[in-house]
Amino acid sequence: MLLAVTSLVIRAATVKDISSIVKIRLAALTEEEIRGFSAPESATYLSIAELRKAWSRRNRLTDDFEVLVAEAEGKLVGFIVFKMERDYGYIDNIVVSKKEQGKGIGSALVAYVEGIAKSKGCYLMKTDTTENANGVPWKAYSFWTRMGYEDSGKRLPTNYDFTEIPLIKRLK
Ligand SMILES: CC(C)(COP(=O)(O)OP(=O)(O)OC[C@H]1O[C@@H](n2cnc3c(N)ncnc32)[C@H](O)[C@@H]1OP(=O)(O)O)[C@@H](O)C(=O)NCCC(=O)NCCS
Repeated sequence: MLLAVTSLVIRAATVKDISSIVKIRLAALTEEEIRGFSAPESATYLSIAELRKAWSRRNRLTDDFEVLVAEAEGKLVGFIVFKMERDYGYIDNIVVSKKEQGKGIGSALVAYVEGIAKSKGCYLMKTDTTENANGVPWKAYSFWTRMGYEDSGKRLPTNYDFTEIPLIKRLK
């Protein structure tokens, strides 16, 4: 898809981005929507206080992961959470502001992280999504397949009703 947002800037998240990150996450997904697809305690990006605490401990939002934000005309419109392992990159989470979805921002964030992976010599990307108890995949499943991520065919059990679907992409 063509990027329908002019002047998109992708950069590392800073402490000043915390309230915008939480606002984007809160507005993008309701509790009702994610019920049956996500663990209740996995909503790391829902609390300004928690993210500030994390930042003050280690000057970054998470222990193992990097957080990048996308900014359009000075306004935060999305974020992506990922890490680089020795042989592959792993995307843990991605959220685009509700109003800005469908404009190519999600794909730009994913492409950016894939570029980092390639620059570090990794030619494999991994991520995952979930499937509820009725076998319905989370709505982002189609986004991932559109982005070239293949369903591993595995359905990994969790402590909840949903299973985890590992997704994988070989970078060219
Ligand atoms: C998933 C998400 C990050 C996609 O970001 P986005 O900026 O809307 O995606 P893009 O505009 O870059 O779309 C890229 C392609 O994926 C497709 N796509 C995006 N969301 C889709 C969806 N829910 N269903 C089907 N296709 C989708 C687009 O149509 C586009 O395809 P095209 O190139 O053929 O036009 C965004 O919808 C979001 O934040 N969702 C809520 C949070 C979430 O579910 N995160 C993923 C956790 S696993």
